[in-house]
Amino acid sequence: MINPKDLLDFLKERRSIRTYKDTPIPDEEIEMILEAGRSSPSASNIQPWEFIVIKNKEIISRLASIAPYGRFISQAPVIIAIVGKIDENPQWYIQDTTLVSMHMMLMAWALGIGTCWVGSIDREKAKTILGVAGYDFLLTVLPMGYIRGEIPRPTPRKDMDKIKRIIK
Ligand SMILES: Cc1cc2nc3c(=O)[nH]c(=O)nc-3n(C[C@H](O)[C@H](O)[C@H](O)COP(=O)(O)O)c2cc1C
Repeated sequence: MINPKDLLDFLKERRSIRTYKDTPIPDEEIEMILEAGRSSPSASNIQPWEFIVIKNKEIISRLASIAPYGRFISQAPVIIAIVGKIDENPQWYIQDTTLVSMHMMLMAWALGIGTCWVGSIDREKAKTILGVAGYDFLLTVLPMGYIRGEIPRPTPRKDMDKIKRIIK
């Protein structure tokens, strides 16, 4: 078990990273990130997901070109696309795949690999580029790359007293 204080520090240290080195990421590290995703909880343990590992530069550029606030993903040596299988759990596929994305981002951070949740992408076009079936849901494409440059300063969070309510 991890020390709770260390875990909290680790969670608070994570940052979205938008600048990457083009250094290749070893397959063992990619596998650890995928394994972290695979171990994520899901409603009724249905695991309604698939992961696509993209290393092809041209495909990565095409994805970047349809992500208005995610052009930076073009620098990433690897992208992992997370696909929700709507037919496997129509009620909870979004929550399940979102949890997968957090598991993967935290594993990446532990490996010194930067990533950033990319929401602003034309999902339908991205599905066509990736050969994802029309009836599946593309949650996000997570860029993965060793961090280039300074780690950004922490982004602010709302004060605890503004978001916390205790019912006794
Ligand atoms: C659902 C979601 C969508 C996001 N979409 C984008 C995006 O399209 N482009 C981007 O640069 N960052 C995106 N982000 C990253 C957020 O901007 C970032 O998490 C937030 O500013 C907090 O910073 P931090 O991750 O460094 O703590 C997204 C994050 C989430 C959770």
